Order: sequence, then structure tokens, then C-alpha cells
Amino acid sequence: MALQVKNFQEYKEAYQKSVENPALFWEEQANTFQWHRKWDKVLDWNFEEPNIKWFEGAKLNITENCIDRHLKDKANQTAIIWEPNDPNDETIRFTYQELHDEVCKTANMLKSLGIKKGDVICFYMPMVPQLAISVLACARIGAIHSVVFAGFSAKALADRINDASVKMVICTDGNNRGSKQIAVKKVVDEAIELGCPSVEKVLMLKHTHQEVNWNLNLDILWSQAIKEQPPVCPATVMDAEDVLFILYTSGSTGKPKGVVHTCAGYMVYTTFSFKNVFQYQEGDIYWCTADIGWITGHSYIIYGPLAAGATSIMFEGVPTYPDAGRFWEICDKYKVNQFYTAPTAIRALMAKGDAFVDKYNLDSLKVLGSVGEPINKEAWEWYDNKIGKNKCPIVDTWWQTETGGMMISNLAGVTPQKATFATLPLPGIQPCLVDTDGNEIEGNDVEGLLCIKHPWPSMLRTTYGDHERCKNTYFSVFKGKYFTGDGARRDKDGLYRIIGRVDDVINVSGHRLGTAEVENAINACDFVIESAVVGYPHEIKGQGIFAYVICNSNVDNDRLEPLVRDKVSKIIGPIAKPDKVLLVSGLPKTRSGKIMRRILRKIAEKEISNLGDISTLLNPEIVDEIIEKAGLKTVSS
Ligand code: WT7
Repeated sequence: MALQVKNFQEYKEAYQKSVENPALFWEEQANTFQWHRKWDKVLDWNFEEPNIKWFEGAKLNITENCIDRHLKDKANQTAIIWEPNDPNDETIRFTYQELHDEVCKTANMLKSLGIKKGDVICFYMPMVPQLAISVLACARIGAIHSVVFAGFSAKALADRINDASVKMVICTDGNNRGSKQIAVKKVVDEAIELGCPSVEKVLMLKHTHQEVNWNLNLDILWSQAIKEQPPVCPATVMDAEDVLFILYTSGSTGKPKGVVHTCAGYMVYTTFSFKNVFQYQEGDIYWCTADIGWITGHSYIIYGPLAAGATSIMFEGVPTYPDAGRFWEICDKYKVNQFYTAPTAIRALMAKGDAFVDKYNLDSLKVLGSVGEPINKEAWEWYDNKIGKNKCPIVDTWWQTETGGMMISNLAGVTPQKATFATLPLPGIQPCLVDTDGNEIEGNDVEGLLCIKHPWPSMLRTTYGDHERCKNTYFSVFKGKYFTGDGARRDKDGLYRIIGRVDDVINVSGHRLGTAEVENAINACDFVIESAVVGYPHEIKGQGIFAYVICNSNVDNDRLEPLVRDKVSKIIGPIAKPDKVLLVSGLPKTRSGKIMRRILRKIAEKEISNLGDISTLLNPEIVDEIIEKAGLKTVSS
């Protein structure tokens, strides 16, 4: 079994070894997995192209490591517990044997529908068990999965389908979300109507039993296609660096990027990090509340926990249905030992009052986790006091879609913890801080831009169909380093605290959105001339979206707001809807025509006492106007 460090000393030793001889360190980890052939070389890399290869020459299938190898001694252990949206509906459990059989049946179904190694399958599915099962089925036969969060719009889905020339879309008819039922197949239909020429089939699982349109040329019913498929399917043998999946994420520019992860390194690192950060012990019940549509769900609901032979819970619903005690009810119901969620959920539940927590005893909990955005002190303390009863270590895990796995985090009960600090890098991770010129900032009690100096097994290999973009975004900003896009501080003891994005990315409830992406959506309203979007502190969401909009006709602000929100919802999805929309007659611009976002950010934050030098603006008078329209007093008044 993979190394699990047990105390601070062991961590320090493992860390040192991982830095002194990364190849040897990761080779030892890799040796604990099941391979068809072992590697010729552990690591080959340069950050210039970039070209990163882990375990080259090795052959494997990740699903044999996640499922088959556990059948010897864990065939009857629960692999996945599925908790439905409605607490009165039935739980579904899959033992490792049952998971094996279901994955194989599904893999055979995909094969019977013409799916082959290297084909891209797009998932647009809510949190049903078949999502995890068919993602694994995909990996079983060497097809590439691209899961699109089922809250994205038809347009966003179509863009992602076309970017990767998707051959098949898998969806459900609908989705249960709290007291609401949401259409899913309808969105896929709309996406296809927008034009998705590569899609040959749409495979639909009946889930909510709502009415759907049926396209005889395209649509296939899951229940029919899976009939009589045998529960055995030999795993396709993959090269270590074959693509496992694509996952789209937002950046500073308009178009989301397809982050590419490959088989072997991703498997080794997600398993290693899962076991060490959460200190998972045999028999523990682990629950990550993320949606599989995000990297957290990929790495820490499916691959990491299953490769480690864990029992992983998958929850269909929302934290506030039937009431704000739902998470805690589920923790008691299954005696959850490790619980992993996002600060935004913690803040939302904290705001509902302690009565929803006090009904439950939560005494099974051993470790609490946080992910996706900086956790503020109040939320951290509430999590610690009310949920962890001051006896559970809290792991604040910093990582990204691109990193594939947790990078900077305390290891539960093993390494020091400090509220609001991600603390220390995991073994194998070499972070550093640089200034804007790329000079490394040494020593402690310093702040800078967070970079990683050396490859780690689960790092992205490219951005799908556009390697230049991968290079420019992550590897060219600071020569020889991977640039994260985050700012961080290193305290006097060398512990890292993540400050947040330094690029034009907004983190809304742990969801990453590019300002350009939102602006493009707003600009698609016919009456809009120009817009500028910035993030501002939001009590529950972490960051909210503030949109400044210039219009051509006499639309007033009250009419503008719903129109803009609706448009963004349609083009990206409800998660990207601006929280505030302000009609303005101009935007502060430099003489070269660049929007001064710094000023817009300050106004959105209601921080107008120190706007800095605005004299270099092309149109300094606009600043007072915007301040007034935002309902803030002007500096002079
Ligand atoms: C961005 C990555 C990691 C999976 C979910 C989000 C922010 C993530 C933390 C944390 C402070 C965090 C960063 C990062 N972030 N975790 N523990 N503390 N900030 O993945 O959508 O790729 O977003 O989320 O800004 O760059 P993602």
C-alpha cells in the first residue's frame, strides 16, 4: 500500500526524500500499484515546451487499480454509497464486486455503441451513481471523459463538446435539486441544435422520469442499451501518458481551457494525497460533497478514494434540502469519518443558525476538509467548534483543476495546522514565491506569486488542442516554473496562506470564472456597448460578480439588471450571473485604452477612500460618476 506518513518527523523525512530524489520517491509509490508493465523511466521533463512524462513505458488501466485489485480482499466492502436528494428515497450501495460488475456492463454497453479507445465522451449528468460508473467505464476501455457540470448552459455545453470533437454525450432526462426538478436532456438537445457535428449518439439514463423529446437519429436509451451486457470486460491496457480525461476550466481569456490529465501519474498522486491528507484508515467512511463536474469530484470522490480502497459517499442533493441540517444528518446516518466540503457551503450553513447542527451528534467525524477558495477565520472557527467539536483536524487543501491533486495542505493530525493557512506542501511538491519580475523571494514572512518549481505526477500535460496556450498560461509567465495564478504569503514559520487569484479570474462559491468570459456574455445583449466585470467580497459566496455596463439606448438600471443576468445564465450558466449590475456611461480607461479594473474593484468593494492615482486616466471624470451611481459618496463630497 502507498506510503502514509504518521507523524511530523515522517513527513519531514518523506518531504526531504521527495525533493532530493523525486524519481526514487515516486517510483516507490508507483510500485504499490498494479501494472501490466513497469516504466522505463520515472520522469522526463522540461517546463519550456512544456513536456512532462511520468512513468514512461509503463502500461496499466486505472480501473484495475480502482476496482479489480480490491476484489481479492474487499469484494464485499462498500465502494460507493449513494445518498439521494430526497432523504426518504432509498440509499444505493455498491460493493467493490458490484461496482466491478456495473462498470464492466457499462463499458460493454459503450463498446456496443461503437466507442473505442481515444474517443471523447462528454458527460452532462447530475450526481447519479451511473455518473461515477460510466466515468470508470470510459476509463476501462480507454475512452476519454470530459465531464461538464450539469449547471452549465446549452451554449457552454456546445462549446465544450465542439472543442474536443465529442463522439457521444451521456445525460439523464432530468435532475433533482432540492424541491426542484431540472431538465437535463432538454439542455443537451439545445446544445446539439446549436451545432455539434461530431456527436453521433446521445445516451440518456432515465432518472426523474420527466418527459423528453426523442430524436430517433441520435438518442439511445440507457436501460435498453445496457440490457444483457455481460458483467465482465477486460480492461484496455493504456500507456502511462495516454489521456485519461479532459476537464474544462476558466482562465483570464474568454474561452475555457480543456485541462488534460493522463493515466499513471494522476492515479499515483491522487491516491497518495488522499491517503496522506485525510489519513484515511481501512473501514473509514469518507464523504466529499463536491460535484463530479469539478476536479474535486474526479480526484476525491472517484479516483483517489477508490484506488485507496475506501468507501466514498456520493450525494445527489443540496446542503439545504429538506433543511440546512442535511449534511449533518448524512454524517450521522453513515457515520462519516472524513468530511470534505467548500467554505461557501460552510458559510451558507453557518448563516442558517446552529439549531440545524445541534440536532446531530457528529461523533463519528475524525477529519474535516476545506477546498476551492480561501476559508475565512469565522467559517474556520465555526467548522472547528460546531462540526468538529474541537477534536477534528481541519485540512485546508489548496490545489487546482490543473494540479490534479491537493498540493499544499496540512496532513490531518500529522503536520501543524493553522486557521486560514493551507500550511505546508505535500511530499513531492516544491512551491515558491516570486515577485512580478520572476525573482524568487526567499526566506519567511514574505508575500508573492505562487509558483511550483518541479513537476509532480498529476500535473496537467497540456490544454486540449492548444499546447501553445498551456505553455503561455502556465509556463511562460515565469521561466522554468509553473505559475498558479494565485498570490500567497509564507509566514514566519514557513507556512503558506493562499491569498487568492492575481489574474482576471473570479472565484464564486468555489467556482472559477474568467472576467472576460462573463463580459463576452454580457456584451451579447444587443443594447450593450461595453462591459467590465470584477469580483468583490461576498459574505456567502466568497466573491460576488459586479458588472459595469454601458448601453446604447435608454434602458434604465432596473430593466438592465434582469436582462443581463438572464443573458449570462443562458450563455454560461446560473453560476455566472452577476450579483450587481450597474449602468454607467463610461469606464475608466488608460490612455492606451485599457480598462482600469483596480478602480472598478475598489468601487465594488466600497473602498473609495484611496483610489490611487487617477490622473493618468483618459477620462478621470467618469470615476466620480460611477461612484455616485454605485450609491457611494464621491471623494469630494
Ligand atoms: C483555484 C482553483 C481545488 C479544486 C477546486 C477548485 C482557489 C482552491 C483553495 C484553498 C484558497 C483555494 C485558488 C485556485 N483555491 N483551493 N484551499 N485556499 N484558495 O479548483 O476551479 O481549478 O480553482 O481555487 O485560487 O487557484 P479550480
